[in-house]
Amino acid sequence: MLEQFEKTGKDALAELQQVGDLSALEQYRIKYLSRKGQVTQMLSQIGRFSPEQRPAAGQLANKVKNEVTDAFERLKTSLLQAERQKTKEFLDVTLPGITPAMGKRHIITQTISELLEIFGRMGFSIAYGPEVEDEWHNFVALNIGPEHPARDPLDNFYIDDNLLLRTQTSTIQIRVMEETKPPIRVVAPGRVYRPDTVDATHMYMFYQLEALVVDEGISMVDMKTTIDQFIHAFLGKDAKWRFRPSFFPFTEPSAEVDLLLADKTGKEGWVEMGGCGMVDPNVFDAVGIGSEKYTGWAFGFGIERLAMRKYGITDIRLFFENDLRFLEQF
Ligand code: DAH
Repeated sequence: MLEQFEKTGKDALAELQQVGDLSALEQYRIKYLSRKGQVTQMLSQIGRFSPEQRPAAGQLANKVKNEVTDAFERLKTSLLQAERQKTKEFLDVTLPGITPAMGKRHIITQTISELLEIFGRMGFSIAYGPEVEDEWHNFVALNIGPEHPARDPLDNFYIDDNLLLRTQTSTIQIRVMEETKPPIRVVAPGRVYRPDTVDATHMYMFYQLEALVVDEGISMVDMKTTIDQFIHAFLGKDAKWRFRPSFFPFTEPSAEVDLLLADKTGKEGWVEMGGCGMVDPNVFDAVGIGSEKYTGWAFGFGIERLAMRKYGITDIRLFFENDLRFLEQF
């Protein structure tokens, strides 16, 4: 009987060599490996052996079954693969390729580069600061006292008692003055965060460009000239802007800069672009620069608003929606 088992195994393996396609393989499976198949049947014959022979018979039957099953599975895999290969599409190497989509820099990034370039030509260097700031750099050193409404937790994204997302790039003025002795002439671009209600001209996050000049004998004339030259370099000689008296705790005197901007309907109106002024002596005191010897001016402008004026964009939300139909235009 044991010889019979061995023979069945040998026959089965030999016959598998003759199988050349999937339908022949199915016939083979029925003959040997189905419930009534010859190999499967060996296992049900084990009970006929004497108790002494039974273990050897069981071992042999299982070995034969495993060998045949393994060989069967291997052939099945390769036949299936061959089948798939046959139906695979023919590769036409003469077809034109797929052009990879070319990325480009975001319109804000382009605008920042252009602004830095203009100020670079005027002799400004570039500074950066962290977006997560402490109260010292965002408020205290900028002469914004504890009772000032700007420090209201509802008007800021606080992280803990001392840390918040910076609300203005003026923080970088402080960081620069803490590290550098005058003469100072820097511009600092960056994101700022405020829990504002979003509309066509407001976002909870936007970009500012800060400027700071500190030296002996610096006056408001230097500030006005620089702003005027910058606006005309960036927006063309026909761009109209104006000073409007204002107040900021860190400048004295202070002004706001308005740009003449068209809205969706084409109607022109003055839109605030940012603030500026002569650096307040209290700020110099906070960073240890002698206000007897030095004077300075600073501004902080909204970068989106500058880009909106330049490119005729009438809604700030467009910058951040990542709609390629919008972004690809620039
Ligand atoms: N930091 C002010 C703001 O975010 C803008 C500003 C005003 C910046 C006056 C300045 C400045 O540098 O001198 O509204």
